[in-house]
Amino acid sequence: MKLSTSIIAGAVVLPGVSAWGGFGHITVAYVASSFVKDNTATYFQTLLRNQSTNYLANVATWADSIRYTKWGHFTGPFHFIDAKDNPPTSCDVDMERDCKAEGCVISALQNYTSRLIDADGKLTPEDHEQAAKFVLHFIGDMHQPLHAEDVQKGGNGIRVKFDGRFFNLHHVWDTSIAEKMVGGVHRQPFDEAQKLADQLVSDIRTGKFADESKAWTDGVDLDKVVDTALIWARESNAYVCTHVFPEGPAAIVGQELGGSYYEKAAPVIEVQLARAGYRLAAWLDLIAAKISTNKIAEL
Ligand SMILES: *[C@@H]1O[C@H](CO)[C@@H](O)[C@H](O)[C@H]1NC(C)=O
Ligand SMILES: *[C@@H]1O[C@H](CO)[C@@H](O)[C@H](O)[C@H]1NC(C)=O
Repeated sequence: MKLSTSIIAGAVVLPGVSAWGGFGHITVAYVASSFVKDNTATYFQTLLRNQSTNYLANVATWADSIRYTKWGHFTGPFHFIDAKDNPPTSCDVDMERDCKAEGCVISALQNYTSRLIDADGKLTPEDHEQAAKFVLHFIGDMHQPLHAEDVQKGGNGIRVKFDGRFFNLHHVWDTSIAEKMVGGVHRQPFDEAQKLADQLVSDIRTGKFADESKAWTDGVDLDKVVDTALIWARESNAYVCTHVFPEGPAAIVGQELGGSYYEKAAPVIEVQLARAGYRLAAWLDLIAAKISTNKIAEL
């Protein structure tokens, strides 16, 4: 959909827009830490040089912290895929159409998964560590619907209100909704993130996600990274039509989203955080198993 000039004129594009906000990424990391196999935990604790239970959570926002540095600038496009679909009429992600030459979140997951496995053994331990930090961040990113949407730079150019304050829509989906769900987040989001993660883990094990979560790893294939990531990105992007822009992008401009919009969006954020963490655990398990098989084959 082409936005009218008046909408574009009223748009603010903030620099420093970050993915999911720290709180979402840290929550996803804690959920994943609860589901990984013991061998996987040991492998990544060693690689990331942290034996604490925070070994994933501590590095969950690293990829955001380097993307605006001179060195990390090339990684900017890796945080999203700009689906050129037409919400709310039709939503879809198409690799050929939407993944730019400089890369996207799907090609980045493929690249860093392969660098982490490093089948040829050509990379350094630092390369592996970096790849691990990218993999865990990008699986989180692709579960945020506006990281799989082109309209107004994933909503960055759409000004809205949330509980009386002005934000861009991307920020609302990255941060405001998740933080409101837990009654606000302080400067150190680790405690609140751990609490929300514990709740999601229990929802997955025995609660409201117990049934549906059995299908969350359907189609997951370490040898087909793009196909796997497309399943996740399409599912995420589908919410752009149903929950992000149910009335289209123009209708949301300037609206207050802290009320009934929030009530419908919060369950989406909740299930997406749960899925991202659960799938991240499965992905790290597959990677750790592959690396250990490769090592045995070398002996
Ligand atoms: C490991 O995690 C703990 C707990 O979060 C943190 O205090 C410590 O700084 C981390 N160590 C390293 C080497 O990152
Ligand atoms: C893969 O990652 C390396 C290391 O960050 C980077 O130099 C390269 O451009 C990436 N390739 C793709 C296709 O994303």
